[in-house]
Amino acid sequence: MKPETVRQLDGYDNIIKEIEISRKYGTDFTLEKGAVEKYINRLHPQKMSLRVSKIIEETPSTRTLRLLSTDNYLPPFQAGQYITLYLEVDGIKTSRPYSISSPPNQIGYYDVTVRRVENGLVSNFLLDRVKTGDIIESSAPEGTFHYNPIIHDKTMVCLAGGSGITPIMSMLREVIECGLDRIIYLFYGSNNTDDIIFHEELSRLSEQFDNINYIPVIENPSKNYTGKCGFITADLISETLGEFSDKSFFLCGPQAMYDFCLPEVEKLGIPKRKIKKEIPGTPLNIWEYPGWPSDVKKDDVFTVKISGTKSIQASAGESLLVALEKNGLVIPTLCRSGECSTCRIKLVSGKVFQPQDTPVRKSDRQFGYIHSCVSYPLEDLEVLL
Ligand SMILES: Cc1cc2nc3c(=O)[nH]c(=O)nc-3n(C[C@H](O)[C@H](O)[C@H](O)COP(=O)(O)OP(=O)(O)OC[C@H]3O[C@@H](n4cnc5c(N)ncnc54)[C@H](O)[C@@H]3O)c2cc1C
Ligand code: FES
Repeated sequence: MKPETVRQLDGYDNIIKEIEISRKYGTDFTLEKGAVEKYINRLHPQKMSLRVSKIIEETPSTRTLRLLSTDNYLPPFQAGQYITLYLEVDGIKTSRPYSISSPPNQIGYYDVTVRRVENGLVSNFLLDRVKTGDIIESSAPEGTFHYNPIIHDKTMVCLAGGSGITPIMSMLREVIECGLDRIIYLFYGSNNTDDIIFHEELSRLSEQFDNINYIPVIENPSKNYTGKCGFITADLISETLGEFSDKSFFLCGPQAMYDFCLPEVEKLGIPKRKIKKEIPGTPLNIWEYPGWPSDVKKDDVFTVKISGTKSIQASAGESLLVALEKNGLVIPTLCRSGECSTCRIKLVSGKVFQPQDTPVRKSDRQFGYIHSCVSYPLEDLEVLL
């Protein structure tokens, strides 16, 4: 802005007088250059360096990695948020989000609890090859899957499946450790009893505290199992809870769990605004999604020209992000679920498949930007990174 325009602003003379008085009496209220940016970076750093200080066996397929900051400072987070780990596995630079399972009142470390995924690149790396003392790079805490006292009821009904227990564990631990005035009903679906993560701690807390109610639901129980079996259905929820009008629902688990449990919760007449759902992660079997063109097979291979550089080969059933990473091209990422838009790239030509509900901004759609983590090539493409 030009100096003469600044002088015409409302209150200009008063501000000049204030500055003169401050100078005269030795107080300068002008901000140190970069001070605000420094605070923002402290609260929300782009990258953090974390040291694995402990590895805890949770179940035969699950371990918790306890992560300390290498500079002795971890930013605050809300129970339910995740961090994205940035790793190099077999020469591929990639990333994966993991919810923090420790509670936010505990500021010395973040715990992430990782379950093995069959043929999974990163989960197997974290479980088999990472050892104490290793340094891992991560994002700051991210995500909106957390309790909000303005919106949510005092009673939380949590439906978790498999490793989806991790953000809910952080919420539950916070309620207990901070003595929060909240009631939790946790329905936790697992394939069998060996698969239940945190079972002992959940059983103990449920016995000890009246406001914690833990209901494991086992899909394939052993003969002498006497608890709830099958899936988390509307009937099971209503026979346990009775009345719903004063309760908010929190769901976290694999896509298959959302596909089954969301209609069950809707059967109970719970309004959408009372249902909070964690993002589901990268879609599995994208070729089975509604709208996938029948003439494109998952193994069809297309050429993707990267504007100004090289061309790579990408198969239809694999996201563009994964194809780029496999070819040494690193794109910034956070959620890897299509939600955050960090991985957006410009589609110069060609056609991709993105799931219908991908929240691409209107302006991005107009100018041809796509979320590479959930975009799949349907023909030869040109993209701009
Ligand atoms: C917000 C959020 C929080 C999360 N928190 C946790 C957590 O606390 N704990 C946890 O354990 N996980 C968590 N996850 C999941 C985690 O991010 C990873 O997705 C998970 O660990 C699997 O990663 P991976 O590299 O082992 O598997 P990937 O290599 O990504 O593979 C995943 C699946 O896709 C299949 N696949 C891979 N490539 C292809 C291909 N080309 N074609 C067809 N199929 C293929 C694999 O066989 C496998 O079944 C979270 C996800 C999100 C979005
Ligand atoms: S990484 Fe979040 S939209 Fe792709």
